[in-house]
Amino acid sequence: MAPLKITKILCIGAGYVGGPTCAVIALKCPHITVTIVDLNQARIDAWNSPDFNLPIYEPGLEDVVRQCRGRNLFFSTDVDKGIREAELIFVSVNTPTKKSGVGAGFAADLNYVELATRQIAAVATTSKIVVEKSTVPCRTAESMRTILEANSKPNCRFDILSNPEFLAEGTAIADLFQPDRVLIGSLQTREGKDACAALANVYSNWVPENKILTVGLWSSELSKLAANAMLAQRISSVNALSAICEATGANIDEVAHAVGYDSRVGPKFLKASVGFGGSCFQKDILNLVYLSESLHLPEVAAYWRQVVEMNEYQKRRFSKRVVDTLFNTITGKHIAVLGFAFKADTGDTRESASITLIRDFLSERAFVNIYDPKVIESQIWLDLSEACPNMSLESIKKQVKICNSAVEAALNTEAIVIATEWKEFKAVAWTEVYEHMKKPAFVFDGRLLVDADELTKIGFKVYPSFFFFGSVHSQFDKVATIGRPTA
Ligand SMILES: NC(=O)c1ccc[n+]([C@@H]2O[C@H](COP(=O)([O-])OP(=O)(O)OC[C@H]3O[C@@H](n4cnc5c(N)ncnc54)[C@H](O)[C@@H]3O)[C@@H](O)[C@H]2O)c1
Repeated sequence: MAPLKITKILCIGAGYVGGPTCAVIALKCPHITVTIVDLNQARIDAWNSPDFNLPIYEPGLEDVVRQCRGRNLFFSTDVDKGIREAELIFVSVNTPTKKSGVGAGFAADLNYVELATRQIAAVATTSKIVVEKSTVPCRTAESMRTILEANSKPNCRFDILSNPEFLAEGTAIADLFQPDRVLIGSLQTREGKDACAALANVYSNWVPENKILTVGLWSSELSKLAANAMLAQRISSVNALSAICEATGANIDEVAHAVGYDSRVGPKFLKASVGFGGSCFQKDILNLVYLSESLHLPEVAAYWRQVVEMNEYQKRRFSKRVVDTLFNTITGKHIAVLGFAFKADTGDTRESASITLIRDFLSERAFVNIYDPKVIESQIWLDLSEACPNMSLESIKKQVKICNSAVEAALNTEAIVIATEWKEFKAVAWTEVYEHMKKPAFVFDGRLLVDADELTKIGFKVYPSFFFFGSVHSQFDKVATIGRPTA
């Protein structure tokens, strides 16, 4: 039997996933009307803004929205209308870590998923395919089905699919255009398989069939958590090795390069850094930890928890390195932090390592100048207020200045900390920066981004690298550090 042809899709949640994903579906499937809804009026207004001042920065996204908006792509706050009209509904709402109650600090808060599901059940008058796009714990689809079936109207059936999103922020559009795979989980019943075929048919407009994987519902849900856990584990593994490199004089770039040459390991995600951030890795691993504990698998829980603990350790270690290197105190000193987003090519700051570092610097009573090419000022104040609950916004503003360029941020500072791997930081006028800084001028490269050799020639003391270019202070003679290849 030919799969059901979908002509109207609704996406609930116009965030970092729902927005780009469904905009790309609209682009690639001009015969399908795609509506993206959100409760957040400001977010929808931004998606609809006449000058395409979209709420999310993502390379290539504006171009996609320009091509489809008003044609077959619509943004709205009218969730009910969207539900009534759609044949297939993506639920792409946030699933943050629970802040209170049972499982606080670990379990996913499924309140938003539940509210969206209840709204679908209350409003729908025709049958729908409901697709979990949000990252959820294993067997969430079962709860969604129970809610939908208990509240549905006569002759209204709901088929639930799991279709986790694997895009990475910063490369979302490229990832959506050419995904490594599209994963669709369904019940292995005839109806479940039919619903799966209908969604697969949507993706087959641009994704090769051999990249559309169809599996059971629970495997699909767990695969998303597993994928993020394995990716984060690689980062924590290489960061753990970076600590050993510092203690021995081995070079983490060289070690990672050599290890990644093994085809069983591969070269990606082996970059030592100040630690991973973003809305997903930590949340999804903690979710896996909670799931393991709920299943009475304490050793499994402890194994995955260590990936998050290593990440925290790496951030702490970096902050301490800054303090130790600046002659054991940063009180009253000025530090420029380049990058506030959790990674390059996004304005997203959720769980950004930069926030943790700045919080540590503020607690040491340092002054911090921040520059990020994309993060808006109000977001920085919001994040710092949340990160420093013991400080008023007024006192934070006395210690923090938000700048319009890297050069401005570096003016009269003792040190520069590179917290995000924005490409433009490589091309900073480093000689000019050096002239404007206090001496000795330090650069702490939390992303192994800049050419340490070149900066050292200008006169900077670059961490990680100064070990290889001669010590700057007697205490450094003993410090073996992670760094780039020796000259
Ligand atoms: N950000 C990523 O890189 C990424 C990648 C893969 C998967 N995910 C997962 O996708 C999901 C969404 O992530 P995100 O980054 O897009 O989150 P987000 O916070 O950017 O967006 C979620 C949106 O859902 C809206 N919303 C919540 N409840 C609603 C409701 N009942 N009706 C209408 N709108 C509602 C919120 O207002 C918000 O705008 C999460 O489960 C996340 O784990 C995220």
